[in-house]
Amino acid sequence: MRNVYIKGTGSYAPDNVVKNDFFKRVGSSDEWIFEHLGIRERRISTGETTSDLGYRAGLNAIEDAGLTVDDIDLLIVATATPDRQAPSCACFVQEKLGAFKTVAFDVAAVCSGALFTISVGVQFIKTGMYNNVLVIGADTFSTITDWNRRDSVFFGDGAGAMVLSHTDEDMGFIDFNLHSDGRGKDHFSIPAGGSEQPTNQDTLNSKLHYFQMNGKEVYKTAIEVVPKSIDEILTKNNYLIEQIDFMIPHQPSIRILEEIAHRVHLPFSKVMTNMDRYANTSGGTIPILLDELHRANKFSTNDILLFAAVGAGWTWGTALYKW
Ligand SMILES: CC(C)(COP(=O)(O)OP(=O)(O)OC[C@H]1O[C@@H](n2cnc3c(N)ncnc32)[C@H](O)[C@@H]1OP(=O)(O)O)[C@@H](O)C(=O)NCCC(=O)NCCS
Repeated sequence: MRNVYIKGTGSYAPDNVVKNDFFKRVGSSDEWIFEHLGIRERRISTGETTSDLGYRAGLNAIEDAGLTVDDIDLLIVATATPDRQAPSCACFVQEKLGAFKTVAFDVAAVCSGALFTISVGVQFIKTGMYNNVLVIGADTFSTITDWNRRDSVFFGDGAGAMVLSHTDEDMGFIDFNLHSDGRGKDHFSIPAGGSEQPTNQDTLNSKLHYFQMNGKEVYKTAIEVVPKSIDEILTKNNYLIEQIDFMIPHQPSIRILEEIAHRVHLPFSKVMTNMDRYANTSGGTIPILLDELHRANKFSTNDILLFAAVGAGWTWGTALYKW
């Protein structure tokens, strides 16, 4: 099996910045949002679609990798907010990139989408089927948000991307630990617009095309399952938590991340965050964060990175990476 590493990273978010004060209109406040969620502002699309964001992030990553679109064998997009129900968002991105030699498809795992997508891309390279895989996490949750509700504070729009390639060096992805549990499907969902409740006037009147979230259950589940997954992946690969240099987590809320770090005895200084500027961009969080850290030259050779995500489904997991 070949080693797989991150050859390039990219990200993109809309220019439009929405600060916490905007949410006074729904009875929230900058103090509450920052204290509970760690968010100061988020980017909200003013017309750009998910594939527009994904395209820009993807192009950014291809350039960073020193490749051209023709070098990309496979393009996978993680999203819960595709441009259309069909076809896949990946086909929209492929068209924008002009990457017509690539195979393109989506992966649906909501906030765990980027991690699950990376794991898929890695397998194709490990087996030798493909050499360069572009993975993109992109979402525009602004399009599924009821702006008259208080939970409109949680999400932002954005996209991140990575080019995965093979290497002969002792580096790259060490392992993945992935889980799903469909019994949690009602705790975060977009109820209407699918085959269960096709869009009609009633679903529109009931606002079932907007996301519905049980915040308490998300919190409770996240702080249980992610520490377990971290323990599992460390134990299986004979790593100690002390050997982790950086945790690159999904960005649900600062309190969730603080509790997870506490439970696995990881100093919070090793937990990377950028939700203060982007909020939760769902599929976008991990690749946007990685791109920012990579471009800021945060990582050194042999650093051990711990990726972690949890999202609707439930879906959750971790990955270990040697830089
Ligand atoms: C949302 C969350 C902070 C709410 O905390 P909670 O204690 O579980 O929920 P409650 O509804 O009891 O709210 C606690 C207090 O915050 C207030 N509150 C909740 N949402 C608020 C908002 N958006 N703005 C201002 N105040 C809010 C409530 O009114 C309540 O106030 P009170 O104590 O004066 O009655 C917490 O459940 C959470 O972080 N969940 C995770 C959500 C998440 O990460 N989602 C991303 C999906 S991956």
